[in-house]
Amino acid sequence: MLTSPDQRATYEVDWTGRFRGHTPAVVRPASTDELVAIIDACRRTHVAIVPQGGNTGLVGGGVPLGDEIVVSLRRLTTVGAVDTSARQVTVGAGVTLADVQNLAAAAGLRYAVDLSARDSATIGGMIATNAGGINMIRYGGTREQVIGVEAVLGSGQIVSRLGGLLKDNTGYHFPSLLCGSEGTLGIVTAARLRLVTQHAHRATALVAFRTVVDAVAAVSMWRSHLDTLEAAELFLDAGLQLVCRAFDLSPPFTSPWPVYVLVEAADHVDPTEALGRAVEASSGMADVAVAGDEKGRRALWRYREDHTLAINTLGPPHKLDVTLPIDRLAEFMKVVPKAVSEVDRAAQTWLFGHVGDGNIHVNITGVGRDDERTDERVLTYVCELGGSISAEHGIGTAKKQWLHLNRSPAELSAMRAIKVALDPVNILNPNVLFA
Ligand code: FAD
Ligand code: MLT
Ligand code: ZN
Repeated sequence: MLTSPDQRATYEVDWTGRFRGHTPAVVRPASTDELVAIIDACRRTHVAIVPQGGNTGLVGGGVPLGDEIVVSLRRLTTVGAVDTSARQVTVGAGVTLADVQNLAAAAGLRYAVDLSARDSATIGGMIATNAGGINMIRYGGTREQVIGVEAVLGSGQIVSRLGGLLKDNTGYHFPSLLCGSEGTLGIVTAARLRLVTQHAHRATALVAFRTVVDAVAAVSMWRSHLDTLEAAELFLDAGLQLVCRAFDLSPPFTSPWPVYVLVEAADHVDPTEALGRAVEASSGMADVAVAGDEKGRRALWRYREDHTLAINTLGPPHKLDVTLPIDRLAEFMKVVPKAVSEVDRAAQTWLFGHVGDGNIHVNITGVGRDDERTDERVLTYVCELGGSISAEHGIGTAKKQWLHLNRSPAELSAMRAIKVALDPVNILNPNVLFA
């Protein structure tokens, strides 16, 4: 248990620096039994808990904004042997994504979800947020990878189903329920994960487009022609320039273009030619840079992945992670920057994201930490277009006042009933998800 201000400091503030709270103590169980004891003590004394993994969450859901105690799961780092015939592995909730990726790679396999916070994000946190990431278009998100979970519910009971059965229709499916529950129902202690094929060949290209409409159309065409497509990530020239300035990188092309899509395919045979043909067939394509080797691949990915870090150099952003129906995406990207500056002329809008699944990250800088007028404008517009106010980061505390835009009163009341059933004393993340 950590109680001194120095020890608590990094647990009290989120990755962006926007959400800062206070905790009397950070408790760090090293086993499921220790966690049960903590939850029992908190239930008896009505002390609220914020579960925390790698603290890379982006919606203020993992930091103690209401003086809760922080329960850090980072010491739950047990890893099982990879079962290569079932293509599964069991890991503790505190194991990082990078460690799972390395574990799978050493067994000739791969964990299907990837995101740039891989060195810190934990499997427990990824389950709690149902993390999406860059390979969603091929493999689905976290929910699709979780075969079983062990968790301690708010009631203090342990639910554990780590046997690895792929077919198991015996009532309610706890892995699905816990995925995306943001620490409000139970604390995940371990998970049985699906692993996928590690392809021997990978092709990566950065494609420049003249318009967002062209870029979105090209991605739809690639998706229907290329089964091997793993990633299609969009960013704009303003974001590219910001990344290049922040990290002293040379731009990928001699002249700038309005829109870029980073595209990657992987297969047992070299997919470069097939990817090249698909890219060549795209209308509105202006230029293309192809990675020749792993170093070149990493260099192209930096232009996309370093957006998050580069935007943070401008001060804590408001991060609105949304999904749109694909046919409304281009319109959304055109309207949003104007709509935001109509609300606040000092605000700057940055757009990038996982365009293959309709997920755009709207980042707004230059607005006050607690000034939510631009958030309200964007999220309301998302719902008018039939989108979701949270694609992959969750609701947390940041978006709870807008959850009703996406969820009907009947859905909200069913969700509350589940919360009451599994966490009857309301000790697990009581300030998250529900307004
Ligand atoms: P934390 O931040 O510690 O917690 C997140 C939430 O989960 C909180 O509500 C917390 O209470 C709860 N929680 C944590 N551990 C547990 C547990 N064991 N049991 C129950 N509840 C728990 N997200 C994406 O989806 N896709 C991306 O591409 C992506 N890229 C990112 C890139 C960067 C640079 C950063 C900083 C973040 C990114 N994220 C992305 C967001 C973040 O990495 C994910 O939400 C991740 O799943 C959080 O994991 P964590 O261990 O850091 O969780
Ligand atoms: C990403 O895709 O880079 C992340 O979800 C992080 C972000 O939104 O900044
Ligand atoms: Zn993302």
